[in-house]
Amino acid sequence: MEAVVTGGSVVETEYVLGGMGGLCSSLLAELPEWFGVPEANADYVKHADEHPSVIASVEGEKVGLTTVVRHGPFAAEVYSMAVRPRTHRQGVGRAMLHLVETRLGAEGVEFLQVKTLSSLHPDTNYADTRAFYLGYGFRILEEHPTLWGPGSPAVQLIKAVGSEEARSDIRS
Ligand SMILES: CC(C)(COP(=O)(O)OP(=O)(O)OC[C@H]1O[C@@H](n2cnc3c(N)ncnc32)[C@H](O)[C@@H]1OP(=O)(O)O)[C@@H](O)C(=O)NCCC(=O)NCCS
Repeated sequence: MEAVVTGGSVVETEYVLGGMGGLCSSLLAELPEWFGVPEANADYVKHADEHPSVIASVEGEKVGLTTVVRHGPFAAEVYSMAVRPRTHRQGVGRAMLHLVETRLGAEGVEFLQVKTLSSLHPDTNYADTRAFYLGYGFRILEEHPTLWGPGSPAVQLIKAVGSEEARSDIRS
């Protein structure tokens, strides 16, 4: 559990090992501009049930969820991220990624990736999403114009996480 004060709000974050499909579903329903494809949403909900997540709460209300998938000992992926619209730009997303990095870094993960809609698509909502990830420190690794099918170009972003100190703690 971590608590971060941002702009007057206290954002509490907690790492859980699974079972967050219900929360995921309720958050996606508030974000139709980003999550409008039912099959994709079902996949995010399934992953939130089966994989670890960070939950963010403000004043006791769960306002954000970030689900992560491990791809081996050294790599992980932010599979989905959602923050209730009324709490956007209050540091909730940043606080969740901070705990993701702390936790995974301590487990020896070195690289965190995320895929999102590419700037090859004109959608302005996802331009905000990319601004968030780039502002946090992710960098473009590769464009994937056809990964999600025609009309949905993906961009893969990556960030180095963890420290040598954290990794040596794990090894000792
Ligand atoms: C993307 C999202 C998770 C970010 O969470 P958030 O709590 O709103 O973001 P934060 O308040 O932690 O933002 C941290 C920083 O990111 C950058 N940032 C965030 N949103 C931004 C935006 N719309 N435009 C430009 N920069 C932005 C800023 O640098 C911001 O710091 P600042 O507010 O001090 O300037 C959230 O807005 C969201 O749920 N969006 C809809 C769903 C989505 O895009 N999910 C990811 C799909 S891959």
